[in-house]
Amino acid sequence: MHHPRSATAIAPANIAFIKYWGMQDIARTLPYNGSISMNLDACLTTTTVTFDSDLAEDELLLRLYAGPESAAAPPQRAVGRPLERVSAQLGRLRALAGVEWRARVESTNNFPSDAGIASSAAAFAALTLAGVAALELELDERELSLWTRRSGSGSACRSIPTGYVEWRVPDGSFDAATWDAESYAVSLAPPAHWALADVVAVVDAGVKKIGSAENHQLAATSAYFPTRLAELPARLAATRDAIARRDLELLGETMEADAVSMHVVCMTARPPSFYWNGGTMTVIHAVREWRAGGLQAYFTIDAGSNVHVICAAPDRAEIERRLAALPGVQFVLGNGAGIGARVVATEAAG
Ligand code: DP6
Repeated sequence: MHHPRSATAIAPANIAFIKYWGMQDIARTLPYNGSISMNLDACLTTTTVTFDSDLAEDELLLRLYAGPESAAAPPQRAVGRPLERVSAQLGRLRALAGVEWRARVESTNNFPSDAGIASSAAAFAALTLAGVAALELELDERELSLWTRRSGSGSACRSIPTGYVEWRVPDGSFDAATWDAESYAVSLAPPAHWALADVVAVVDAGVKKIGSAENHQLAATSAYFPTRLAELPARLAATRDAIARRDLELLGETMEADAVSMHVVCMTARPPSFYWNGGTMTVIHAVREWRAGGLQAYFTIDAGSNVHVICAAPDRAEIERRLAALPGVQFVLGNGAGIGARVVATEAAG
């Protein structure tokens, strides 16, 4: 009998400064454009994968965040689509290792799943890294990011490298095989390079973040999408430059323009999506007003209504206080720049 082999990994969520929006190959999770993000140091998923030849099926146990004490709560067994997605990713790793063993996956989030933070990025990065470690596959960071990307949660590939991260696409016209082999994320700078903060203003805690998969496929139906793609090379270059030089004004202006552009694509797709609500607009106007008053803060918004406010770390407490006092803001969640995914334990149980 094969002895169970187990590994535990921790991975951060990340916030995109330049958004991944639109997929040109669904099977391989290939985007139209490169994207740039910052890992979040306070939004983490911890996942243990145990391969065991005695298991007949993959199992997924989730311990969702329900307050600071929820780590002690018993996990819930997941079925349906979440289990299928996890099992599909385990299947890719099994094929790579040439084994058949099924696995038990136990995953814990330390942040509320209703905060509109892409928990799937942290989840699929942690799953892939723990799975690879448990199978004792020797993959470098490039390959880890590549296999994480293939999970279907594209933004997860940016949670592998440390700090400020770019998910690259090859130059030239689209070719599925080339892009599949060469589209992965790399670190642009470690967290210590630039002390930024992301304060999430939660304006819609009730609604769970809807998976982006369907809307990625609708992006190309927007008449504005080609304009967005044409603007992206300059925005990516400006964002790389802003990070290298720690230029918050350049980063912020580029990041806001990119978030608005992504949402214009959503609002002009067929059928359209309108993610923003009244609270979203309240926060956007407040951030612009604070900036006019001398407080450097910039907004970005993912596929949801909550607003991420990026500022210098010394301004974080002030931004948290001001955001929490706005009408429509239910709670705030502060993050610094974080390190990438890491293995925290491996065990060959006897
Ligand atoms: C708007 O397909 O990676 O967050 O639906 O969480 O798996 P999940 O996300 P994914 O799309 C992310 C879209 C985005 C922008 C971004 O993070 O780049």
